[in-house]
Amino acid sequence: MQRVFSGIQPSGTMTIGNYLGAMKNFVRLQDEADCVFCIVDLHAITVPQDPEQLKQNTRSLAALYLAAGINPDKSTLFVQSHVPGHAELGWMLQCVAYYGELGRMTQFKDKSSKKSVVTAGLYTYPALMAADILLYQTDLVPVGEDQKQHLELTRNIAERFNRQYGDAFTIPDPYIPKIGGRIMSLDDPAKKMSKSDENINAFVSMLDSPSVIRKKISRAVTDSEREVRYDPEHKSAISNLLTIYSLFADKSINDLEQQYRGAGYGPFKKELAEVVVDKLAPIQERYQELLNSTELDAILKLGAERAREKSSATLRDVKEKFGFIL
Ligand code: AMP
Ligand code: TRP
Repeated sequence: MQRVFSGIQPSGTMTIGNYLGAMKNFVRLQDEADCVFCIVDLHAITVPQDPEQLKQNTRSLAALYLAAGINPDKSTLFVQSHVPGHAELGWMLQCVAYYGELGRMTQFKDKSSKKSVVTAGLYTYPALMAADILLYQTDLVPVGEDQKQHLELTRNIAERFNRQYGDAFTIPDPYIPKIGGRIMSLDDPAKKMSKSDENINAFVSMLDSPSVIRKKISRAVTDSEREVRYDPEHKSAISNLLTIYSLFADKSINDLEQQYRGAGYGPFKKELAEVVVDKLAPIQERYQELLNSTELDAILKLGAERAREKSSATLRDVKEKFGFIL
C-alpha cells in the first residue's frame, strides 16, 4: 500500500482553496492508501503567533479535518509538535540542505518581502517540511500547486542524503490536482486565494456563514462579458468560479457551461453560492460538535502515538547513518 503524507498549518481559517486544493483529496486518498495527516504547528511559529490563538487554531484545524471526512480509523491524524522526530530530523536536514537552494524558494521570498522581521525558521522551513515527508517513507504528497517547489527540494534533499550516507529515504512524488490545484482570489484572479489576504472578501472560509458566503460570491469579480465559459487565459475570474463550482458540485466544467449558456453571470453566481453553502453546511455542523468534544483530543493523542511508531525506524536509521551513538 502506498504511503501518503500531507500537512496544513494551523494559522487561522481554512479557505475553500485549501479544501479543494488539498483536503478534499486527502479524504479521497484515505480509501486507497495508508495516509498520515499532520497539523504543522512547528511550521506555524516561523512567523509570530499568539499562544492562545495557536492552541485554538490547532484544535480547530483538527476538528475541520475530521468534519471534512478524515476518518481516524483509516488515517493517522496528529499534531507535529507531539512527535519530536519532526524537529530532530528537521535539524538534521538543515545540515543537508544548502543555504543557496533554500534562498531560491519563492514562498520564502514572498513571505519575507512583506515582513520587517524575518526569522531564521522562515528560511529553513522547507528543511522541516522535507523532514515531515521523509520520516514516513512517503510515496505521495497531496498538496496545492504552490507547494511544488518545496516538493522538488524535498526530493533533492532525500536523493543527496541517500547518495552521501546510504539509502534511507523513499523519494516522494507530489500529487497536485489538475483542476483545483490553484484556486484564485475572488477579488483578483491573478492572485492565489489565501487566508492571509488582507481583504476578507478575497476568500471564502470553510467556516463562513451562509449569508457571508452568498455575499462574497455575489461580489466576486467577473469580466465585462456575460458568457459563462472556461478560458483561464482570457476569462480568468469566471474560469476560477467554474472550477470552484465544478469541484463542489461534482459536475464537469463542460456540463456547467451548457447549463449556463446564455444565462449571464447573475444566476450562475447565485447557484454557485448555494452549492458552496450546501456542501459546507454538514461540515460546519460536524465541526461544531467535534470542537467541543473530548473525542478530538483523544484522536490526536492516539494519532501521535501511531505517528511515532510509523516514523521511529527511519529516524533511527538516519541517526545511525550520520554516525550518532545510539
Ligand atoms: P497552508 O494553509 O498554506 O498550510 O496550505 C495547506 C494546503 O492547501 C497546501 O497543500 C496548499 O498547497 C493548499 N492550498 C493553499 N491555498 C490554495 C489555493 N488557493 N488553491 C489550491 N490549494 C491551495
Ligand atoms: N508548507 C506547507 C504549506 O504551507 C505545509 C506543510 C508542512 C506540508 N509540511 C508539509 C505540506 C508536508 C505537505 C507535506 O502549505
